[in-house]
Amino acid sequence: MKLVTSLGAGAAFWLSSALTGATAQDLNVLCGVDKDWCLTMEAAFEQTTGLDVAMARRSTGEILEQIRDEKDDPQVDVWWGGTGDTHLQAAAEGLLEPYRPAHTGDALPWAQNFYQLSGGTASGVYAGALGFAYNSSVLTGNGLKAPSCWKDLTDPRYLGLVQLANPNSSGTAYTFLATLVQLLGEDEAIRYLAALAHNISHFTTSGAAPVKAAARGETGIGISFIHDAVTQQQAGAPLVIVAPCEGTGYEIGAVSIVKGAKHLQAARRFVNYSMSPEGQATGTASGQNQIPSNARAALPPAAPDISLIRMVDYDFATFGSPEQRRRLLDRFDKEVLGNSSPVVTQ
Ligand code: F6P
Repeated sequence: MKLVTSLGAGAAFWLSSALTGATAQDLNVLCGVDKDWCLTMEAAFEQTTGLDVAMARRSTGEILEQIRDEKDDPQVDVWWGGTGDTHLQAAAEGLLEPYRPAHTGDALPWAQNFYQLSGGTASGVYAGALGFAYNSSVLTGNGLKAPSCWKDLTDPRYLGLVQLANPNSSGTAYTFLATLVQLLGEDEAIRYLAALAHNISHFTTSGAAPVKAAARGETGIGISFIHDAVTQQQAGAPLVIVAPCEGTGYEIGAVSIVKGAKHLQAARRFVNYSMSPEGQATGTASGQNQIPSNARAALPPAAPDISLIRMVDYDFATFGSPEQRRRLLDRFDKEVLGNSSPVVTQ
């Protein structure tokens, strides 16, 4: 299959639907991956099927909220991408439609486990580890030494030079919060985040925004998934990527069908495509570097080798539960955001 990588008619429709809130006749998708991948996937799926798709990019927590708000009259058919623990939360809240996609048999073991954990409602599409990246020019320019551990990021010398997303909107930042709880214990994790907040200039909405800002030299250090930093590095940014010395967590990015989806057959075709080697190749085609879940899909050449990264045994069941997520976000709002004064941006 020929992958469509240009911003053709699909891109124009994506923009118009995103701006006007218009819906497509055939399928409505909320996309949690990078906007470039959303556009490429939309165009490739439309070319493969002839269906008309409306796709808009949102951060993971925003998608969960929208699906929850619309549960009596769903406007979205498919939720594609974004961190899987939030899909698990939607599953626990009864917001997802059970479906076993074609290609499930070809899924790598971590994706098979994730599918079981979701009760057959969400499928793992990709995986990636969390870390941070610093702009070597910015740090050198400020006479600062390079950080190599999470604990280094609270050093007062980095005042105003760190960016992180807000875990209420961002699945990346929620993964960071859950990772710290698993590494340090809950109280210590909250204390760490409260100390880190003093150095943070912006809590962004989207999880990749911090490394994009670091790539542009607008901040010194961005906390994000490592694959997003690799994408910036490949585009020529002077970023140095760090897998923190204490160890780190990871995401399983997922796809699911919204319960009550108005375009169920088209939704199933989209999910099948997203799990196929061709569908997963749209990631590499748009410059993304996550690890695909289909064992037959090609690995992006620059994808980080996560077997070399010290990883926590991430507990998706616990941190994907609605109660745990609500409680941790409440603590974050009160004890971290409540005691800091960074600028909160889009
Ligand atoms: O940019 C891609 C990505 O990092 C995905 O790997 C991830 O699932 C998603 O973004 C998370 O986005 P956010 O943190 O904005 O919810």
